[in-house]
Amino acid sequence: MNAKRFLDLADFTREEIVELLALAQRLQDRPEPRALAGKILGLVFFNPSLRTLASFQAGMARLGGTSFVITPGHGTWQLEHRLGVPMNATAAEHVREGIPVLASFCDALGIRAFADGKDLAYDLAETNFNAMASLVDKPLINMESAMNHPCQSLADWKTLDDLAVAPRSKFVLSWVTHPRALPLAVPASTLHMAAMRGHEVVVLRPEGYAMPPQLLAKARAAAAASGGSVRETDDRAEALAGAQVLYAKEWGSTTYYGSAEKDADLRAKLPDWQVREDWFARARPDCRFMHCLPVRRNVAVADEILDGPRSVVLKEAHNRLVAQMAVLHRLLSATP
Ligand code: CP
Repeated sequence: MNAKRFLDLADFTREEIVELLALAQRLQDRPEPRALAGKILGLVFFNPSLRTLASFQAGMARLGGTSFVITPGHGTWQLEHRLGVPMNATAAEHVREGIPVLASFCDALGIRAFADGKDLAYDLAETNFNAMASLVDKPLINMESAMNHPCQSLADWKTLDDLAVAPRSKFVLSWVTHPRALPLAVPASTLHMAAMRGHEVVVLRPEGYAMPPQLLAKARAAAAASGGSVRETDDRAEALAGAQVLYAKEWGSTTYYGSAEKDADLRAKLPDWQVREDWFARARPDCRFMHCLPVRRNVAVADEILDGPRSVVLKEAHNRLVAQMAVLHRLLSATP
């Protein structure tokens, strides 16, 4: 594992991820409450969170360390990230000062900064996150960037392991509806995780919501190395036939990226993209249902699924804690 950064599962080999998950299991089975004594984790949230915020704070405490949280603009100065602009509006401080100052106070820093959602190429290049990452000389964790959520994907991999889901089985990543366009970070990261784990990955989405070719190519390279495969379709019945996992996620139109109005027109015609039990008619009887949360009940996913036996969403969320404890241990512990 890169000694300094946890930014993208693609930065690691499959074997390194398997080792990291073995460490997560070890910490779950044999807690190490003094492993990170005296260490400080800084957490910077440019966007809201429930799981990521609470699980990083709890995980650091369970390892004997401590943490501080900054939510720019809420009790702290609002931070500007654009370069070269006159700062005569609401932001009183620039990330070029704010981020290195925060990094200087801690032993490792986590940053959450979602996509701008205006220009696909800009977001695919991770422009905002990378600009901040270049200012950090401490171990750094991606707590969700424009196109990545590696902590969620590490926890999801552990969930699949815990449930003994066979790596070669069919994993369907499906678009589901939502009142507005959401970022591509989780679907992109999930696609890569499932490909890297060796699944037959099918991305199920309506027209207008295709995965960007760069993300498909990256996932296909990972699948080729692990014996898996990646394809896309809009045929729900065919996609779900024989599926072992249905991972649902909401994301914005890639055809109309940056246009909330055109995206809204498109998704207004797609209300039946809500997961219900009839979606599973041709899936394996023990097909699991996954979602990273938060989820809008009876919009994206029906109650009957979230409250039913297929759903493993709470297990996924709990695994955020143990998976991230392994990341923190690997980044900050003096002993392996
Ligand atoms: N899945 C996830 O990252 O949840 P939060 O946005 O609540 O952190």
